[in-house]
Order: sequence, then structure tokens, then C-alpha cells
Amino acid sequence: MTETHVRYPHKQGLSPMPRVDAIWLHPAYQTAYRWLARLECDRPFCRHQLRHLLDAARLMWIANLEEGCGLDREVVYAAALLHDIGKATQYAMGAPHELTGARLAGDILASLDGDVAFTDAERRAIVTAIRGHRRLRADAEPLERLLCRADKASRPCFSCPADVRRACSWPDAKKNLCIQI
Ligand SMILES: [Fe+2]
Repeated sequence: MTETHVRYPHKQGLSPMPRVDAIWLHPAYQTAYRWLARLECDRPFCRHQLRHLLDAARLMWIANLEEGCGLDREVVYAAALLHDIGKATQYAMGAPHELTGARLAGDILASLDGDVAFTDAERRAIVTAIRGHRRLRADAEPLERLLCRADKASRPCFSCPADVRRACSWPDAKKNLCIQI
């Protein structure tokens, strides 16, 4: 058992996702995630922490089921968990986070082996989705499309304080001003 493995207690009705847990526990993931948490600790706007990542994952999974995309659940969650991992680098150095994040995600995924490994095709799809998650391409792949949409839909703008909402860089037309899903 490697350090990226966890033991699962029996929980009726819940399906473990050992490959997603391996990403979460990965030292490179934790370093980037904790760095981002420190950089965003005083941010009044939406943050890019676990709540956002899991909201995006669950919206993606709902869409996957409703639209019959047939994507693997761990692939969906892996893409969501990794998609903003380049954000700290963007804050620090200005590099677009979808590009640095895609590179870091590719490295993390490539380092997972044994029973927590993703296939080459899964890794490629996840990296493509992360690279394309900010602007929807006309020929976006299914995972990329779900991630791009869920990333934006996951933001509860309607619950944001009015002064923060006014100062937000998102135009009003893009804000989620009611509960939609
Ligand atoms: Fe995001």
C-alpha cells in the first residue's frame, strides 16, 4: 500500500473512489492546493477550494447521468478535483491556470500506478478537459463540455453579498442569480 492509498471503512450505500482519493492525497496536489488556499484566504470573491471542486464534480455527474454521456465517475471527479490546480501559479506568476493546471494534472495522473492508475485515454481526456475548461470550444469533448459548464454553474452568485457581487468581474448576464440545479 502506498501513501496515496486510503483504507475504506464499510459505509452502506457509498461507493469509494480510490483513484480520486489518490489524487487528493498526492503530495504535489496537496502542495498546490494548500498554496492556493493561503493565497485566497482573504479573497472576497469565489474561491477555488474543495467546496467549488466538489460542487463542479457533482454537477458534472448529474449532467452525465441526465444526458447519458456514459462517463466514468472517477474520471468526472478527477477532472473536477484537478481543474483549478494551476490557480496559485496564475496568482503568483500570471500564467493561465488552465495551461499550468493541465500540465500539473498530467504529471500527477502519470505518477499514479497500480490499482489507482488512470488509463492513457482517461488521462488524455482529463487533461484536455482542464485545458479547455475556461472557454467552451466548438468541438469540445464530452468531459470538457461538462467541466466547462459545471465550473460556471457551480457558483452561487445569488448568495454573494451585494457589494461583492457588484465588484465581481463576471458580467451580470453570466452570474447565477437563482437556484437552477
Ligand atoms: Fe473552477
